[in-house]
Amino acid sequence: MRKKLIAGNWKMNGSLAANATLLDNLRAGGAVGCELAVCVPAVYLSQTQSALTGSSIAWGAQDVSEHESGAYTGEISATMLKDFACGYVIVGHSERRSYHRESDELVAIKAAQVLKSNMTPIVCVGETLSEREQGHTDAVVIRQLQPVLAAVSSRLSEIVVAYEPVWAIGTGKTATPDMAQQVHAVIRAALASVDVHAANTIRILYGGSMKPDNAKELLAMSDIDGGLIGGASLKAADFLAIASAA
Ligand code: 13P
Repeated sequence: MRKKLIAGNWKMNGSLAANATLLDNLRAGGAVGCELAVCVPAVYLSQTQSALTGSSIAWGAQDVSEHESGAYTGEISATMLKDFACGYVIVGHSERRSYHRESDELVAIKAAQVLKSNMTPIVCVGETLSEREQGHTDAVVIRQLQPVLAAVSSRLSEIVVAYEPVWAIGTGKTATPDMAQQVHAVIRAALASVDVHAANTIRILYGGSMKPDNAKELLAMSDIDGGLIGGASLKAADFLAIASAA
């Protein structure tokens, strides 16, 4: 049985003052029946670590450098993130793929870096609206996943995958539970082609306008093992309501 994971992606939001309130409220939310994590801007990792240490909520980052160290101005390495006890690191978010032109191959190297520092990569895949309309959804997510499967095959069971249809991110449009389930099943079959046992244990999260009022039906689908939550993770009440739906 896969334990559900509800992970917040704060994106480029927050301030010391706002985070303090949000993190306190999450901590005060008490035990929920699933795993909870927040992926925060890197400059707030220290604050998040202080606020959440000793709680059951994990924390992590939203990106990582593909390099280990050296002259890469502005980059943050996996070992640096590990210094702040990150449990998770998002890689390949569609905003990084589109605004920073991250390729499938680069995302795979980043996933491997995260594993090397013994953290869990949350590998994001998902199609654009025009790719969906042309019937290319399955091919796109498999293409995005392929280099990752090759790069991390020996530690495949340690990754988390997030299916985030680009057209559903921050738009208020959500994939229906059936649409999401269909793609999750395609992803799980691709994982199984490398390692059947790992495919059964890997959590595949859904992301894209998941909210308290649609979380329950999405999370009821057999291959949806949690959520990667953007906007709704910035309000403790909403984030915790999604967690209780899980
Ligand atoms: P929203 O929940 O705001 O649509 O964002 C989803 C997302 O991109 C999480 O990584």
